[in-house]
Amino acid sequence: MSLITLCLTGTDLSADRGYLKSYEGRIDLAELRLDCLDSLRKKGTVNTDEVEAFVRDSSVPLILTIRRTADGGFYRGSEKDRIALMADLVSLGFAYADLEDDLESTLSGPVEKLARSSGVRIIRSFHDFRGVPEDLAERIRRNGEKGDLPKGAVTFSHSRDMIPFLEACRKLEGVEKILLAMGERGFFTRILTEKLQSYLTFTSPAEGAAGASGHLDPDLLVSRYRYREIRNDWPLFGIIGNPVIQSRSPELHNGWLEKSRLPGVYVPFLLDDLADFSRIDELLGFQGLSVTIPFKEKIIPFLDSPSEGVRRIGACNTFYRKDGAVMGENSDAPGFLYPLLDRLGLERDSERPLEGMKCTLIGAGGASRGVLFALVQAGANVLVLNRTVEKADKLADEFGARAAVLGPESKELMREYNHVIVQTTSMGMAPMEERDPVDFYHFSGEEFLYDIIYKPAETVLMKRAARSGCRTLGGWEMLREQGKVQFELFTGLPVPKG
Ligand code: ATR
Repeated sequence: MSLITLCLTGTDLSADRGYLKSYEGRIDLAELRLDCLDSLRKKGTVNTDEVEAFVRDSSVPLILTIRRTADGGFYRGSEKDRIALMADLVSLGFAYADLEDDLESTLSGPVEKLARSSGVRIIRSFHDFRGVPEDLAERIRRNGEKGDLPKGAVTFSHSRDMIPFLEACRKLEGVEKILLAMGERGFFTRILTEKLQSYLTFTSPAEGAAGASGHLDPDLLVSRYRYREIRNDWPLFGIIGNPVIQSRSPELHNGWLEKSRLPGVYVPFLLDDLADFSRIDELLGFQGLSVTIPFKEKIIPFLDSPSEGVRRIGACNTFYRKDGAVMGENSDAPGFLYPLLDRLGLERDSERPLEGMKCTLIGAGGASRGVLFALVQAGANVLVLNRTVEKADKLADEFGARAAVLGPESKELMREYNHVIVQTTSMGMAPMEERDPVDFYHFSGEEFLYDIIYKPAETVLMKRAARSGCRTLGGWEMLREQGKVQFELFTGLPVPKG
């Protein structure tokens, strides 16, 4: 099983001791990054006795590392001094010592010998902050030749760099190594170490400076991603988009997978474009993906079987495999509709639950298309209002709805289409939190007002409608509901209760 390693980057050993203590029992290894110590950074010295006591008291095996600035560390002295310091410390009880693969053998020979004779395993490392070396697999193999543990930390400067990295992982199956990609694009490599067959993953304490960009906190790794349980053969799910690392979908989907006791892990993948998506898909073998901005349209050519919703809306947010075929769905439409039907006390699975209802749709942008499709499918008569009336006309034409300009001149028409009013523009959301797109319209109190914005949870429009006695609904439930629809498509099972 791939090990959780905590990077200790405190400015003194008592800080590092604190970090170790706070994760006691929940990590397997720790990397003591001595280059982060103030004493070494400012005075060029380390108290050997203190280090020895630290190693002796540690509850987990330790890696000795003095990282150079060129490799993202803080050590500024000469290589000769650095290696001499390594030699002073290496036999104090460390389990591993990190030595770079470009060291002159005359320089590193003695410390290597000392390490081997003291039972310390050498981690033979390299860091590439610009890309993925062409000979990644060969370099890793070479670095492991003497029984050392090879480590390669690379950078995806574009998401296409995932391909040589994943190809190297394939070539290196069965080879013991540490392989990871730094930064946001490499985020998934911190989580999927079991699948990528990396010996360990590096993590950083939730409090304090991260040891490197992309590090997760050990507890989050375990609680959100079920790191301790992930198996090589688990189905892989995820979200692709840009930006995507802050998405809340991993929290939802992994929570549902865990509650359902299903194998599977859901991870964010930051992609720059979809040009190499087929190869990435081939190498990672996605079972299901949530697709977000800016790929909802661009993913369509990759589908074997787009649903009617995807074809008519022209956007796909759910990519999944079923019986060997790649299916595409738009779960934004049912995700929007279901909470509305629930609130109105209407059956989700009836044929045309909104038959006879007249609704106003505010907005004619990307998000409006899915909403209009859902409303029309459900049997509603819809009026589309938009600032740019040509866009409202075009959208309404496509879906058999009516269109008008978003302004006081449409007040009376809106009063006619007032069973449900749906707000889909960006007005009401930061930086336009104070804006009300229909400030010309006075609510009678009979309308149902649905604003698909989820942040803030209650928009100024919702507040005004509620003050007039209207029932209101915000966008948070839509977000959850579209995720639930995705989960069902991904796993064939409903979201667990509770
Ligand atoms: P999304 O994909 O989130 O729907 P979009 O396609 O850019 O984003 O659509 C934004 C919607 O908000 C449009 O209906 C837009 O109106 P226009 O088509 O006239 O641009 C609407 N919108 C944005 N800012 C607006 C503003 N200040 N006043 C009125 N409508 C606005």
